[in-house]
Amino acid sequence: MMKEIPLIMMKEIGYEYPNGTVALKSINLNVFKGKLVGIMGKNGAGKTSLIRTLNGLIRPTHGSIYIENENIKTKSIANLSKKVGIIFQNPFHQLFANSVEEEIKFSLKSLNLSKEEVQTKTDQILCEFNLEKYKTRSPLNLSGGESKKLAVASIICRDPEILVFDEPTLGQDAREIEFFISLINRERKKGKTIIIITHNIEFAYEYIPRTILMADGHIIADGPTNQILNNEFLIEQSSLILPQIRQLYLAIQKLDLELQTDIISKNDMTNYLRNLIKNQSSKI
Ligand SMILES: Nc1ncnc2c1ncn2[C@@H]1O[C@H](COP(=O)(O)OP(=O)(O)O)[C@@H](O)[C@H]1O
Ligand SMILES: [Mg+2]
Repeated sequence: MMKEIPLIMMKEIGYEYPNGTVALKSINLNVFKGKLVGIMGKNGAGKTSLIRTLNGLIRPTHGSIYIENENIKTKSIANLSKKVGIIFQNPFHQLFANSVEEEIKFSLKSLNLSKEEVQTKTDQILCEFNLEKYKTRSPLNLSGGESKKLAVASIICRDPEILVFDEPTLGQDAREIEFFISLINRERKKGKTIIIITHNIEFAYEYIPRTILMADGHIIADGPTNQILNNEFLIEQSSLILPQIRQLYLAIQKLDLELQTDIISKNDMTNYLRNLIKNQSSKI
């Protein structure tokens, strides 16, 4: 069988901003098609810089990036943006049209669709994101959550192969996070490759299988999320806190109760507590 080539390959990437700040150092990273990957780490660790290299917004000062086995060095931002859709942390950095509808239409412009196709696609995406009622409104007059939704919609409508989200759950309420999770699930079913920068530990622990941890321009850990986020040393280094399940596990351990060693998920914990209560009540 032929060995699968990673969809994204970064080899020894380094990046220095024009002012001399070295934001990325010797980054080696592979991401396979259809995977969901999280990037975590302190503010200033280099997360946003790293994803900006993916569509050419910044060009590495060292090393090479390959997407679908092609070096992206000579590819234009416009070209790369068809393949890599980045949704930035602050939606207002990417919204600029006069109305919500125009925002989507503008985004579709580079795809060479007919006028009718653009209209159909626009109506469809506004409906999917529940934004039809704001069609004629200025993006500047949307709530935080709505403008974030519009920013996502304006990228998703182009159907890029790789989706990158920079802190998508930041400032979102529970329902908005739920909407985002269902969106991620939908895109994954279509085979999309998704990268999510997040500080949201519980979200990452529950939904993201692989986590890349960054500090000071380096990747300091890369592996299964439940290993990375349960590692106290790494958590400490990254100014994160342990997932609640782990904290509960450690608290129970202190009580000298018998603990099975592999409580990882909410489900494991529920089963453990159920058995514990059952055993206790049978002793009475
Ligand atoms: N436009 C810029 N010019 C100069 N330095 C920058 C710029 N953007 C970010 N940096 C610096 O690069 C480093 C990494 O930043 P960034 O990639 O934004 O980290 P993160 O997203 O993990 O918070 C930080 O030291 C930051 O101050
Ligand atoms: Mg950032």
